[in-house]
Amino acid sequence: MSDIILGIESSCDDTSAAVIRDGWLLSNVIAGQDVHRRFGGVVPELASRAHELNIVPVVSEALRQAGVSKEELTAIAFTRGPGLLGSLLVGTSFAKSLSLSLGIPIVMVNHLQGHILAGFVKEEGAENRQPSFPYLCLLVSGGNSQIVRVDGPLEFEILGQTIDDAVGEAFDKCSKMLGLGYPGGPVIDRLAKEGDPDRFQFAKPRIPGLDYSFSGIKTSLLYFVRDEMAKDPSFLENNKEDLCASFQKTLIDILMNKLIKAVRQTGIKEITIGGGVSANSGLRSRIESEGRKRGWNTYLPAFKFTTDNAAMIAIAGYYRYLAGERCPLDVAPVSRISEF
Ligand code: KG4
Repeated sequence: MSDIILGIESSCDDTSAAVIRDGWLLSNVIAGQDVHRRFGGVVPELASRAHELNIVPVVSEALRQAGVSKEELTAIAFTRGPGLLGSLLVGTSFAKSLSLSLGIPIVMVNHLQGHILAGFVKEEGAENRQPSFPYLCLLVSGGNSQIVRVDGPLEFEILGQTIDDAVGEAFDKCSKMLGLGYPGGPVIDRLAKEGDPDRFQFAKPRIPGLDYSFSGIKTSLLYFVRDEMAKDPSFLENNKEDLCASFQKTLIDILMNKLIKAVRQTGIKEITIGGGVSANSGLRSRIESEGRKRGWNTYLPAFKFTTDNAAMIAIAGYYRYLAGERCPLDVAPVSRISEF
């Protein structure tokens, strides 16, 4: 008998549903929300309303693409948090109602653990290289920056994390500051490819251990650009590419220095990355080049699994289901990671 899991993800501004059979991906449908673009960031109330509109068609489409009927589902995995509470409520309530109507269990998933396990989703025709345990995951998104030690699909230890902003936030806020738009990561990534990463230097934080800090670099960039603009009002326009390349390189240096330290401390050389910022081309090539130099086995997620998606929730939920975890129907979503 195979296990067919429906995954549901609604923690931020993507409504997603996916179906996996025994760990193999059958479908992964994502509905984004353009409504936030003109506000330069996600508006929580608008996000929940959009999830409400999207959830039924997205789940129906995921089942249709998978060629699976509702009655064939074994369990439903849903994102309990962390994320925006109103957004999480839509996915959580939907998962509960569907489970009640079908008489099948629900399994709750920590969104971040979904990102960390995304590489275990197997796909027809893909290489399906998977890290062996224990491995280290550099988890970098709009809400988190962490180095996590993973000893098994249910065993996670946070070795270090940001004490203020997440690295994705640094990309987004600085892009806004430079007038480049939202979300900032992809724009800065694109412009950085045409710039000189060694042209400008920005101060790097000195934080002990394996923790990160990304709030100072924002200020460093802000003051630098302000001072240069006072001398030459067209400075920004004429140096966009070099600014992006230098800023991105600084962020990558900060991320990599702590990752290298974590490898040294743990002796673990199986390395993965996850989260929205793991789509960054500079970070991806740097992980690969450092990996070659240092004898690491590196595993980069396919681009479609870097941003929020339900396939990663389905696979994380699948392992929890196999381990016998079930979730009561009175479960409530949680917005903060500390509540897990
Ligand atoms: O994991 P994610 O989709 O969502 C949450 O954190 O909720 O991550 C979104 C973040 C945003 O900050 C976005 O700017 C960043 O991922 N991002 C990137 C790239 N693509 C998305 N950052 C750098 N380079 C990229 N190519």
